[in-house]
Amino acid sequence: MSPAATSVHSPFRLDGQTAIVTGAGAGIGRGIAWVFARAGASVVSIDQNSASAEETRARIEAAGGRAMAAAADVTDAAAAVAILDAVMERFGRLDILVNNAGVYPRGQPLPELARETFVRTLEINVTAAFQYICEAASRMKPGGCIINISSIESLRTAGPGIAHYCTSKAALNALTRSAAVDLAPKGIRVNAILPGIVRTEGTRASLATDAMGQLTQRIPSGRIGEPEDIAHAALFLASGAAAYVNGHCLTVDGGMTIAG
Ligand SMILES: NC(=O)c1ccc[n+]([C@@H]2O[C@H](COP(=O)([O-])OP(=O)(O)OC[C@H]3O[C@@H](n4cnc5c(N)ncnc54)[C@H](O)[C@@H]3O)[C@@H](O)[C@H]2O)c1
Repeated sequence: MSPAATSVHSPFRLDGQTAIVTGAGAGIGRGIAWVFARAGASVVSIDQNSASAEETRARIEAAGGRAMAAAADVTDAAAAVAILDAVMERFGRLDILVNNAGVYPRGQPLPELARETFVRTLEINVTAAFQYICEAASRMKPGGCIINISSIESLRTAGPGIAHYCTSKAALNALTRSAAVDLAPKGIRVNAILPGIVRTEGTRASLATDAMGQLTQRIPSGRIGEPEDIAHAALFLASGAAAYVNGHCLTVDGGMTIAG
């Protein structure tokens, strides 16, 4: 077979597939939705902010892609069922789920950390992912793929006051591994991406510009990540190129974790 006959890009096409991305109204989620759409997938943008979800849909459709928007809080279990049913009705199949919606609210160091902050963070970052995994897996055919957006804070603790966030993302890694084992007999792969620091609406709101500058000095690659950096890793995991990658937690952080 000649090199020209097999484009190296072909394994990364998602033509004919349907992907759901939660929290796709901004940041990393919107970046993943955009890259998946460019790879040929029909993309369902779910966000609690209906205008943001609609904007992601509109951008994809304006570029010639196929998309759908749904406004919902991912912790709303009834809404998850209704949206998944609507996706099957509209596109007839579900191939990829990306559990990206997540929060990293400011907290206090223990013992002052508020119980509500802890519980609500786990509800959004872990329990909702569990709910969407179950609803998606029951509708996917063999070849389906689930990606959970975790964090390098699942492996370490960057500082005080983030026990709620670190706990939630470590639990998401564990959920990823267990789901990979449980869903393997159905032919569904489950992996996680652990981003480092990524320039998004969320980090712009929570990190001062000088803090971003200081953090950059601790990143061997010498820059803050962009949503596309995470989206390209997600495209790899969703694609046929990753057919034998299962239960993996992939760090995408410019080397920040190994640099300490
Ligand atoms: N940005 C980073 O540096 C970074 C690093 C590591 C991990 N992450 C993870 O990546 C994911 C996305 O982060 P981001 O920085 O793009 O966030 P962001 O705040 O910029 O965007 C998150 C989107 O999710 C939506 N969302 C939040 N809670 C929701 C809910 N309960 N139901 C439905 N939609 C909801 C928001 O409306 C928003 O559109 C999160 O899971 C986050 O923990 C981000």
